[in-house]
Formats: sequence, structure tokens, C-alpha cells
Amino acid sequence: MPISTLFKPFELKSIKSRNRIAMAPMTRTMSPNGIPGDDVAAYYERRAKGEVGLIITEGTVIDRPGSKNYPNIPNFYGEALDGWKNVVSKVHAAGGQIVPQIWHVGNVGMANGWEPAKIDSPSGYIMPDKQNTEPMTEEDIADTIAKFAQSAKAAKDIGFDGIELHGAHGYLIDQFFWKELNKRADKWGGATIKERNAFAEEVIKACRAAVGDDFAIIIRISQWKQQDYDARIATTPDEMTEWLGGLVDAGADILHCSQRRFWLPEFEGSDLNFAGWAKKLVGVPTISVGSVGLDGEFLGAFRGQGSEVAPIDGLTKRMENDEFDMIAVGRAILSDPEWVLKIKEGRTNELHPFDRRDLAVLK
Ligand SMILES: Cc1cc2nc3c(=O)[nH]c(=O)nc-3n(C[C@H](O)[C@H](O)[C@H](O)COP(=O)(O)O)c2cc1C
Repeated sequence: MPISTLFKPFELKSIKSRNRIAMAPMTRTMSPNGIPGDDVAAYYERRAKGEVGLIITEGTVIDRPGSKNYPNIPNFYGEALDGWKNVVSKVHAAGGQIVPQIWHVGNVGMANGWEPAKIDSPSGYIMPDKQNTEPMTEEDIADTIAKFAQSAKAAKDIGFDGIELHGAHGYLIDQFFWKELNKRADKWGGATIKERNAFAEEVIKACRAAVGDDFAIIIRISQWKQQDYDARIATTPDEMTEWLGGLVDAGADILHCSQRRFWLPEFEGSDLNFAGWAKKLVGVPTISVGSVGLDGEFLGAFRGQGSEVAPIDGLTKRMENDEFDMIAVGRAILSDPEWVLKIKEGRTNELHPFDRRDLAVLK
């Protein structure tokens, strides 16, 4: 199967990627007190030198007390912005493109000893049947939206090529999408996805207003949640159109459709995956992801599992068919900064398995 399709440039607004391969966002918790240092900059620089087209940074959080669940997750406000500026200049000097993944964890478990003054969540639920705090007030919601926009503006000001909003995996924005955690009866909740989209749409609109029309906004979404792998926001194509169409109407340019295995079909009767359906239904460029180049999926990595190298033919075939526009690669690039070059140059004998110990270091 030809790999040339992976190496065609991709351009959209401010993003000008030399190929179709993105580094998936991966939290590393290696930014002491929230400040990314030279080691973090060098880590991303190695991926740019290794010809990753578009680097999506690890999740980096907005200025709310409970926006992160580990202290060494990088901030995306205040002093941390100088650290990020250094990251951007190193990546650009190496010919790469980079967007920060702007994040708020919402109501998920906090690390031992990390006790933020306030936990934000739509209805105060940490699990569908467990309430552990108060719902966000109108004031909390307004401030959170404003802080997303502030981070978006900062990304543009310090030279990033766009932003990605983290709307996936059961974190704050996704907690509003998901009826099991969003039990609100006001304008931020409701029985339909159209109603539960309100928070994400307001976040996107505020970010758009802050960065202008020409700066690319990606939003990452997922059906699955860390709280429930089988959860689904959209059970039919019509529901998916309402969900994702609403995000695009609000100002999102690219949909990053997270699944754990990119080859799994989204709805019966078609081989199209999540990113394939999103592109077909909504008509904007999409990014797919999930176990590229490896035989095991990523949540296994957190349980200590490694993964063997797997062929990428299935992926190139889908890209040949224009099913989606870019592919994000996580663990394979975390463990090997030269993964893209090795694929490009046919050095497949030099690819190596993913080892769980790679998570402990910035290789
Ligand atoms: C160590 C690690 C940290 C991750 N952190 C994030 C994150 O901050 N934001 C996010 O959207 N996804 C995160 N993910 C999920 C990845 O972006 C990606 O979707 C997942 O690893 C599947 O891709 P892969 O099979 O190529 O690794 C993380 C994954 C790993 C392995």
C-alpha cells in the first residue's frame, strides 16, 4: 500500500502541516508547578525534527482552580506562557507546526495531596450515580468560558499555529455533552444533545471571538468516556450531525475524533470510523486516531501493558479513500521521535515496540 498519501501537505487557515501525521496530545505531568521547562521544549523539538507534521501538545490547563488533577500538568496562563513560547520557537525552527490542547479536567479524581479550592462540573457528579460536589453556578460557567478564551488568545499571541479544545474522554466539556453527568435543567442541560452542546458551543464562540476568523480551532471529541468505555453521545448519524454540526456552526474548523482503535466502524452498515462519519456528515476536515502502528490500545498502557509493532496498511488504505484528513499517532511517537521518518523512509525494521517504561521519561 503506498504511503505517499500520508505525506501530502495539509493546510487549513493558520495550520500548514508538511504531512498528514499529527502527534496525539499526551499528558506527561513533567512541568513542575505547571511550567514547561527546556526538557519539555526539547521533547517536542525532537518530534518536529523527526518530521511530525502537526504536534498537538499534551493537555494544558486554563486558569481555574480545579482545571487540573495533577500539579505537574502544564498551565496555559501566567508564567507558563514563557515556557510555551520557548516550545513554539524550537518546534518552528525545526519546521514543525504546533497547537496546544487546551483543557479543563472537570470532575475526575484528583491526585493524592492535590486539593483544588473548587471542582467544576455540570451537576456535581463524578460518576453517573455519585455526586461529590456542587454544580457550577452561572458565575463559574461564565468565568470558565472566559478563561478558555483567554488561553486561546494567549496561544495566538505567543505564536502557536492554532488551538485544540479538549472536548473528549469524560473531562469538563465532555461532562456537559454526556447526559449521565449533565443533569441540569437550565440552558446548559436538557434531554437532547442540541441542548447539552450549549457549553461547548459557547466555549468555541468565545475562543473564536478572541482569536479571529483565520486562526484554526480544532475540537477533540469522543464517544467513549474514561468513566464508561461503552458510553455514546450520538447513537445515530442524525444525533451525530446535531452534536458535531453544532460545534462547527459555533466556529470549530476541524473535528478530532478520538477512538481507541481507528479501524472500528462507528455505525452499522458501513466501514467508516468515527472521523469518517464526522467528515461525511458535517463536511469539515477530520483527524482520526487510535492504535496506529501498534497492536494494543492505549488504556492498556496505563495498566502497564506494552504493545508490539503492527503494520499500517489499513490506515493508508483509509487515507487513500479520503475517509479523514489527518491521523494522530500517540504512543508510537511518544516512544520514538523518529517514527514518522522511519515510516517515510521505509525503515520499518527500525520500528520498535511500545514499552510502558517510556511513559516515565521524556525520550
Ligand atoms: C501517556 C498518555 C497521555 C495521554 N494524554 C492525553 C491528553 O492529555 N489529552 C487527550 O486528548 N488524550 C490523551 N491521551 C490519548 C491520546 O491522545 C491518544 O488518543 C491515545 O493514546 C490513542 O492513540 P495511540 O493508540 O496512537 O497511542 C493520552 C494517551 C497516553 C498514552
